[in-house]
Amino acid sequence: MDDRISRRAALMSVAAAAAWATSPARALLGQTHGTLPASVESLLARMSVEEKAGQLTLMAAAWAGGAANALNPISATGTFDTQLADVRAGRLTGVFNGNGAEMAHRMQTVAMRESRLKIPLLFAADVIHGFRTVFPVPLAEAGSFEPALAERTARAAAVEASAAGIDWTFAPMVDIARDQRWGRGVEGAGEDVLLGRMMAAARVRGFQGDRGLAADDAVLACAKHFVAYGAGEGGLDYNSVDVSERTLRDVYFPPFQTAFGEGAQTVMASFNELSGIPATANPWLLDTVLRKEWGFEGLVVSDYTGDMELIGHGFAADAREATRLAFMAGVDMSMQSGFYIDHLPALVSAGAVPMARLDQAVRRVLALKVKLGLFEDPFRRIDPKREKARIRTAPMLALARESARRSIVLLKNDGDLLPLPKRGKRIALIGPFAAGQHDLIGPWNVYGSDADGVDLLTGVRAAVADPTFVTMTLGSGVEQPIPGGIAAAVAAARAADIVVLAIGEGQSMSGEAQSRDAIVVPAPQQALAGAVAATGKPVVVLLRNGRALALEGAALAAPAILVTWFLGSQSGPAIGDILFGAEGPSARLPVSFPYATGQEPYHYDHKSTGRPNPPGDSEPYKAHYREVPNAALFPFGHGLTYGRITYAGLELGDTRMAWDGTLTIRATITNSGTRAAEEVVQLYIHDVAASITRPVRQLKAFRKIALAPGAAQVVTFTLSRADLLFHGVDMSPTVEPGVFNVWIAPSAQAEGVSGTFTLMQA
Ligand code: BGC
Repeated sequence: MDDRISRRAALMSVAAAAAWATSPARALLGQTHGTLPASVESLLARMSVEEKAGQLTLMAAAWAGGAANALNPISATGTFDTQLADVRAGRLTGVFNGNGAEMAHRMQTVAMRESRLKIPLLFAADVIHGFRTVFPVPLAEAGSFEPALAERTARAAAVEASAAGIDWTFAPMVDIARDQRWGRGVEGAGEDVLLGRMMAAARVRGFQGDRGLAADDAVLACAKHFVAYGAGEGGLDYNSVDVSERTLRDVYFPPFQTAFGEGAQTVMASFNELSGIPATANPWLLDTVLRKEWGFEGLVVSDYTGDMELIGHGFAADAREATRLAFMAGVDMSMQSGFYIDHLPALVSAGAVPMARLDQAVRRVLALKVKLGLFEDPFRRIDPKREKARIRTAPMLALARESARRSIVLLKNDGDLLPLPKRGKRIALIGPFAAGQHDLIGPWNVYGSDADGVDLLTGVRAAVADPTFVTMTLGSGVEQPIPGGIAAAVAAARAADIVVLAIGEGQSMSGEAQSRDAIVVPAPQQALAGAVAATGKPVVVLLRNGRALALEGAALAAPAILVTWFLGSQSGPAIGDILFGAEGPSARLPVSFPYATGQEPYHYDHKSTGRPNPPGDSEPYKAHYREVPNAALFPFGHGLTYGRITYAGLELGDTRMAWDGTLTIRATITNSGTRAAEEVVQLYIHDVAASITRPVRQLKAFRKIALAPGAAQVVTFTLSRADLLFHGVDMSPTVEPGVFNVWIAPSAQAEGVSGTFTLMQA
């Protein structure tokens, strides 16, 4: 033990803050953020091998029974007292999914007063879409096509979370989700690479803020799950992934690269194997690509027991081997298994893990603690007063309502049934989501509380002129019928002028470990929809969902359908805003709704095949299913407004893009309706012939514009060669001269206006 430090340690019985002011760690590390001070090396030199392994060990907080365990398999965390003992002994770098400033204060005080080296703890959490104020699930918010909105909600989440002691969020989740059976698409931005990248960047910026990571309201971002977690066979969570390197590079890597480019300094290895090698022990992924090719200098953390699961994968024989494989492949920090603290010291003494690798990983952890300002003030994010003051403030709740409203997608609006009149009509609100604070905040939310959410009935009653005009009948449970429910619902429908039918998935039907074999509205609710439709009353369907659904029967036949996802704390008021036209729907689908589950994985940017079926009827010996077209029922990008939008007047200049030049593409978008509208104008391209077959369409740009009734706007996009890149035969970024189709359109399947241009030879 270092003498100077142990003498100092003896003085640490006074207040933690005072102790810290004179601690060697602080003296060594100084005030520097951003760059790693050379003096970290001196601290490192004082650490025992066990203390080093401790810096690489993160556990779910045991405080209050361990909130983390509610959303994860139960796994040995110990008690709060055993965790404090580990902190004292330097066996823990921090905890995650703990609970508030009080807990953080108690733990940090022990670290600062009673541990030998007084290295501050790091507090992590799954702050995915809000903290105590819950914003829409990320999939819903991606549908806003407003990265600036996602940045604001991530910022707000960071402001709340940081006041409760949280330094590090396990977000954004940037997995591309091309298979809607997978339940975790709800945590990401959907199926498209460009939208995924833009949302990833926005969320990183939002969490980390623009005042540097040492700001007391900055929260370190973690891009997850690296990589291709959404590509599990059969859409089954945790399942094997076998995708080509090209698809990794074209589709699954880019959102991570964007997140890193935006300043994300941590990344979480995914649970899945990748062509036979688990991501958690994959040197090609974690070293060759991440470090050598991309120059990533941050920290790689395992997912929850990801290293332990190498045994389950059949990749490691035992805990010791799993530790060595994960650590040597590049996983710097182990989450929840305890494998690193248990096995790294022995592996180092046996020479199976070089000290240099251990030091490298510890340096990465210390560097982040420095950047977060923790060496300067370990309590900078821990302040019970600030915690209370910053949580669920009026501006937060207003943002929750705004973001929820702007995430609602109008799929259908036959006969302009929507918006509904605020007065004069009797409304029967029917369905398992018609009332109650359940299923508002979504499946992956650690800190939000149902009791803080405003439900649909409350929102609708507040929006209409006379709340007594609104009745509420559940009619059905989510997956089970209610005895007499349908009869009651039919009676309510008959007594009303309009039915608002809130059906879909409960929040436990998506999220982690919630893959579905059929992405449909559950049968009892489908029966409810059929019975209500048979009354002949006009029906507005409000879908609650964490993924794309294959709609059928009466749910699909309803004249109006709004996708309302899980919208968070202000769900009810936000839906009320859209239903009654206080604002028009402005979101678009971030995932394609297929005709049938059997089409999954379905994504609009699929390849053509050698026998594409032309638009229209199915033709023999062409690529289609017997039962459904090879298309989406409601494609990516689709969403209507309360206006009437038309696309016209494509301008492509001289239709030639010089090799080093740009091409300006314009179209005129008009709202000929009588209501204001916000349109998401989308630009797609298709490379007609290339050395690697290219998707039938790829989104390259979009713009959300507001159009008053009768207004028209020319929307201009500029493309350059960089927008035409793909990974070529030799896997390097490639652009080939030639002809490209281009569309400016309201969805991935709509024609909009289209033309062709040519990229000229250099
Ligand atoms: C999830 C991660 C999450 C972690 C910690 C895991 O089950 O896959 O996304 O960050 O738990 O809660």
